[in-house]
Amino acid sequence: MNASAVDAAIAAIDALFTSSEGMAYLGEDVTMIEHQLQAGALAACSGASDALVVAALLHDVGHMVGEQDAAVAMADDVDAHHDVVGARWLAHWFGPDVTEPVRLHVAAKRYLVTAEPDYAARLSAASVHTLRLQGGPMSVAETAEFVALPHAAGAIALRRFDEAAKDAAISAPPLATHHDLLARVLRTAAPKA
Ligand SMILES: [Fe+2]
Repeated sequence: MNASAVDAAIAAIDALFTSSEGMAYLGEDVTMIEHQLQAGALAACSGASDALVVAALLHDVGHMVGEQDAAVAMADDVDAHHDVVGARWLAHWFGPDVTEPVRLHVAAKRYLVTAEPDYAARLSAASVHTLRLQGGPMSVAETAEFVALPHAAGAIALRRFDEAAKDAAISAPPLATHHDLLARVLRTAAPKA
């Protein structure tokens, strides 16, 4: 991706974060923006790959994107499928190393609830509620299929950052601190769209 396309992508992400500032996060104690900034910071501190840090930072954009994807978000009256909507929005600029962990991060919750007996106890009340809407725990057969997917490990790692990124007592660094990282990933990205 060339320099002007990189700048345009970062501007679009900045604009989305600015326009969504203060947006509540489904019954959690942090805003949608703070939640994603915390997830990105946790990923960065853990030594995750650049692409996975970006995925963590942007994993819930499916809750925030505007009219161009509203029809997709509203197509299901039970679950808005923010995982799919977000991955599709990010695919304008990013390759599968970013979009696939985002697309699979809800499935990763359904996987972990089955695969790790103590995982469900760590879910927030809101996350338990949405788990039901998202299909509940995977069957054992489904978990075998899920872990065989190329980006399952990234999605599972992202899910752990997601669960830990709901601390109202801290304030994560702003999106601007990740501009260099975003540019680095965008320069090498081969988006589908
Ligand atoms: Fe999240």
